[in-house]
Amino acid sequence: MRYPSVLMVCGALTFMLAGCNTDGQAEPKEPTTQSSTVNQPQTEPNESESLQENSSTVDEGIDEDMPPVHQRPQFAESRNHTSTSGSAVDIEIDGMANLELDTLIFVNKEIALPIDYEPSDLVRANIDFVDSATGERQLLRGEAARAIEGLMLGAKVDGIDLKGTSAYRSYAYQVNLFNAYVERDGKEKAMKYSAPPGHSEHQTGLAIDVSSASVNYQLTQSLGETVEGKWLAEHAHEYGFIIRYQKAFEDETGYMYEPWHLRYIGVQHAKRVFESNQPFDRYIKEYMK
Ligand code: DAL
Ligand code: ZN
Repeated sequence: MRYPSVLMVCGALTFMLAGCNTDGQAEPKEPTTQSSTVNQPQTEPNESESLQENSSTVDEGIDEDMPPVHQRPQFAESRNHTSTSGSAVDIEIDGMANLELDTLIFVNKEIALPIDYEPSDLVRANIDFVDSATGERQLLRGEAARAIEGLMLGAKVDGIDLKGTSAYRSYAYQVNLFNAYVERDGKEKAMKYSAPPGHSEHQTGLAIDVSSASVNYQLTQSLGETVEGKWLAEHAHEYGFIIRYQKAFEDETGYMYEPWHLRYIGVQHAKRVFESNQPFDRYIKEYMK
């Protein structure tokens, strides 16, 4: 693994925060439709090439309000749960995610992954990615990689064009990304569209952002109004994915609507979440009761 120098990191972040994205994509937009009193962007800023190249650098001084460095908790022996009903498994202990839940691992703003959590079965997803999605951002856990490959084939058959924009993100990568967003938009706004390090589903290797040429492969809420976004909303569950951050559940998830963020939980669970029209947050708590 290549570790960049402090100079490289500072240069890259300065470059990005100055708004000089090398990919020429749009800056995050000011809100026009959100009802919240907090200004919310409708677009997740693109991860710049500069940031990607420096993803191995961890800035421990991220934010004094953030939880301390996440350590692995000691979970009591996990009880097996069946495929038809949950059987009282903890989804977290002391704010740390239960990794034994495997493809149902649950993180949110309160529940985090250990700083050193990296799935052992990351593989490159064999799908089309946008040019800026390089390196680890093409990785997913094996099961999720096969599922997104199936989804992309199904989409193609239906005449739907989609590309991956960002899949796995290490804790270190998320540190730099989140810090850059906070610098750019302020913490309150950044928290609406970016997870603090340890709290991102992208670190689970089970989440992938996708977008379409119809919105210039941006991560924008208007994707949801395109045929591609509608196809995703209607069919993602058939491949084991859910649209994790729905408009109707912004208050429950704490994140703005992200029609591009797919989370793999397996076909059986994804179908149930889809059919019951509830956020994963509510589903998993109920299922593991
Ligand atoms: N955009 C989602 C919330 C993340 O950063 O994981
Ligand atoms: Zn995402």
